[in-house]
Amino acid sequence: MNCLAPSILSADFARLGEQVQELDEAGAQYVHIDVMDGMFVPSISFGMPIIRSLRPCSDRIFDVHLMIEEPGRYISDFAEAGADLITVHAEACKHLDRTVESIKEKGLLAGVALNPATPISAIEYVLPKVDMVLIMSVNPGFGGQKLIPYTVQKIRDLKKMIDAKGLKIDIEVDGGINLENVAEVMDAGANIIVAGSAVFSGDLTENTQQFLHILNS
Ligand code: DX5
Ligand code: ZN
Repeated sequence: MNCLAPSILSADFARLGEQVQELDEAGAQYVHIDVMDGMFVPSISFGMPIIRSLRPCSDRIFDVHLMIEEPGRYISDFAEAGADLITVHAEACKHLDRTVESIKEKGLLAGVALNPATPISAIEYVLPKVDMVLIMSVNPGFGGQKLIPYTVQKIRDLKKMIDAKGLKIDIEVDGGINLENVAEVMDAGANIIVAGSAVFSGDLTENTQQFLHILNS
């Protein structure tokens, strides 16, 4: 099944709870939550207290994308704050296997993210332990960037690797996705679609429904 994961990084933070509710009512299955530490990426976004406050606003999957150094230090905190799915960057973990294990031990879904330049071979051996791989289609850190074209081939290569191993793992794509290019990344193999600026600029409900229409067709 194809799912939409609107990224609240592009939300109006003064109306965050309301907007998360609106996304839920419009049918988006995930809430993509970008946590940035000013080290792994240049920006600082928000952390556990925001996630905790948003939790009563929606039962949808809280998809927490950790763009932080050594995220293994904070898995319990994000689990307690209300994450359903925690994604860590392969580049940010000295001991990726251990960090993935600690997410699973909390009973949560585990994702691993790859920056555009990181080869998929970096996660080959840990693949059977993860529920999702996040392919970054921009360099992480900011919303509103343009998709880097070679990442579409990377999605295709990852899909091939997953299928060859007989695994069932979701592929999420994040960065620069809009109504014009979403079909292309889905065709390459992505089934969880993150969209920030394309969902939040203009009418939230209308944009969400337009995405879902393409995702379901
Ligand atoms: C980028 C974040 C993305 C971002 C996507 O570092 O991980 O989730 O919010 O925003 P758009 O869809 O505007 O590229
Ligand atoms: Zn993200």
